[in-house]
Amino acid sequence: MEQLEQKILREGRVLSESVLKVDSFLNHQIDPQLMQQIGDEFASRFASDGITKVLTLESSGIAPATLAALRLGVPVIFARKKTSLTLANGLYTAEVYSYTKKETNTISVSKDYLSHDDRVLLIDDFLANGQAVLGLNEVINQAGASLAGAGVVIEKGFQDGGKLLREQGIRVESLAIISSLQNKTITFHREEVT
Ligand code: G4P
Ligand code: NA
Ligand code: NA
Repeated sequence: MEQLEQKILREGRVLSESVLKVDSFLNHQIDPQLMQQIGDEFASRFASDGITKVLTLESSGIAPATLAALRLGVPVIFARKKTSLTLANGLYTAEVYSYTKKETNTISVSKDYLSHDDRVLLIDDFLANGQAVLGLNEVINQAGASLAGAGVVIEKGFQDGGKLLREQGIRVESLAIISSLQNKTITFHREEVT
């Protein structure tokens, strides 16, 4: 997605060979106009998939997920990372290990909002090792719902998540795929146009 790649080039900061900081539009301040374009792009890629719910993980997934859901005309659910006291019963839960943060979160979604009738689009801000998508997919399986695919704003193509998910047959739609952050330079992977 051209506007997203341009924004990443203008405002992204390479923190190391594996971490890209995008606090100015995605992870701290949010650019609502760009977020709307991102939501519209996800919605158009999954327009004929019969989506009934968009599911994401708090917190940075919520903005792109909400704008995709707005365009698809369906609700958005965000899985919680900390179990809320008022939600303690009737939860689907999964363990998500973060290689980046070296910590495990138990993510949860109330049984009230996901059922076997649902066809779910997963949305997340970053795809690194794929563990968030796998945990959310486990929640979908517990609900007996079905997964249409995962929409990712920025995929780090040099990490294993994209390959892992696609090998499991999960459809992954990434709006920008970064092939390298070496030498402080952001390089995108672009699909060959044939
Ligand atoms: P994975 O789900 O693909 O396995 O990713 P991982 O556990 O490695 O990522 C942990 C957190 O770090 C996630 O945010 C993820 O979005 C974020 N992250 C991973 N790589 C990058 C990167 O290069 N740049 C930035 N800015 N973030 C990265 P989170 O803990 O869920 O936090 P939140 O932002 O959603 O609150
Ligand atoms: Na994040
Ligand atoms: Na995230």
